[in-house]
Amino acid sequence: MTENSDFSRERQTEIYVSGVAGDKPHVPVDMRRLRDAAREKMSPEAFAYIAGGAGIENTMSANREAFNRWRIVPRMLRDVSLADTTVELFGDKLPSPFLLCPIGVLDMAHQEADTGVARAAADENIPMIFSNQASRSMEEMSAVMGDSPRWFQLYWSKMDDLVVSLVQRAEKAGCSAIVVTLDTTMLGWRIRDLDLAYLPFLRGRGIAQYTSDPVFQKSFRENPEPPNTDRKVSLQSVQALFEMVNNHPGSAMDNLRSGEAIAAVQKFVATYSRSSLTWDDLPFLREHTKLPILLKGILHPDDARKAVEMGMNGVIVSNHGGRQVDGAIASFDALPDVVDAVDGQIPVLMDSGIRTGADMFKAIAMGATAVCLGRPYVYGLAAGGSQGVRDVIRNFKADFELTMRLSGCRSLDEITRDSIKRIE
Ligand code: FNR
Repeated sequence: MTENSDFSRERQTEIYVSGVAGDKPHVPVDMRRLRDAAREKMSPEAFAYIAGGAGIENTMSANREAFNRWRIVPRMLRDVSLADTTVELFGDKLPSPFLLCPIGVLDMAHQEADTGVARAAADENIPMIFSNQASRSMEEMSAVMGDSPRWFQLYWSKMDDLVVSLVQRAEKAGCSAIVVTLDTTMLGWRIRDLDLAYLPFLRGRGIAQYTSDPVFQKSFRENPEPPNTDRKVSLQSVQALFEMVNNHPGSAMDNLRSGEAIAAVQKFVATYSRSSLTWDDLPFLREHTKLPILLKGILHPDDARKAVEMGMNGVIVSNHGGRQVDGAIASFDALPDVVDAVDGQIPVLMDSGIRTGADMFKAIAMGATAVCLGRPYVYGLAAGGSQGVRDVIRNFKADFELTMRLSGCRSLDEITRDSIKRIE
């Protein structure tokens, strides 16, 4: 896509012209139908894990309601024959102001998993933020991305040497920023998963960044956690063991014999997150990486100010898609105060609830530099593999560009708080 783009019309033409030959889009464009199509392809456990939130999912609903309380006020007669949707972020020029959120355990959605997403992101030059809970290692993902941009998301483990190792690997894998997710020092109270009694990590899923890490490998081999001996053996526990040995690198038989797969899961459970983390820990990370650091999960303006004071390079306003604190403020409601507190000193990104180009527009109008797309691309992956993700990305690019032009804006600078109005 060039700087002065007519991509939205190209995408519409591509779809309508294919329709003349009888072809429908590879995955539904309508987000609700896309979610339904994804649901049909997934196990009940996978769908619950991806679609669900914390508690009775009030914050998930609030994320949508917050966008609905604001409306775009389009301006006329401004020559919108072309538009520039690009934005520069930490040295990368993005074709459209969005990135792909870090999302764990993508193999639950589709076997192409993280590498399928990485391919689609690279094709469209949209940065992918590799999850610390990915189903594939960051090196595998980078291998299919060429020079296209990617970032790494870190969960701060109880092992500081693992933190250092992960960040160093991210640098080598060509990542251009580190995102530290602060809101998941413990898992939220996720009712759908609790009722199914299903957590993917206990089956060795979503721990590929760990099992591929030399520091983590050394730790579970040389310093294993005490084995859990009071579990009853059932058909389900044998199936879980089978999943565990299959998900661990190497041959399943060797993994079974050596007990490594179980040792890795036990080590992960014991160390994955340090809930004692404080602001005082951040200089440690700063010392160990030259990459820009962004804090994800910021909702209070004072935390945003503190991030600036601590020399952080960006913040991501996020409530983790409503998966952590049910009853937490909607991301979009938190955005204006954070933007005002940061006062242009560092970029402010946001996620949680972005479902359309109009949502992107509203976030940019409120002062976000860019947004991150979450569940929609995972539904694209589930419904249509890598091609499904690519379609979702292309649809967001087109929808955003069209919304912008139809609202009378030719570049992101022209999208301001004056472009939106609160309706109640
Ligand atoms: C997430 N999210 C997340 N965040 C993160 O920092 N690391 C992770 O590994 C994950 N994993 C994850 C798995 C699943 C299934 C979901 C739905 C979300 C949170 C994610 O980055 C983002 O904040 C939310 O997805 C945004 O909300 P919406 O727009 O997807 O509703």
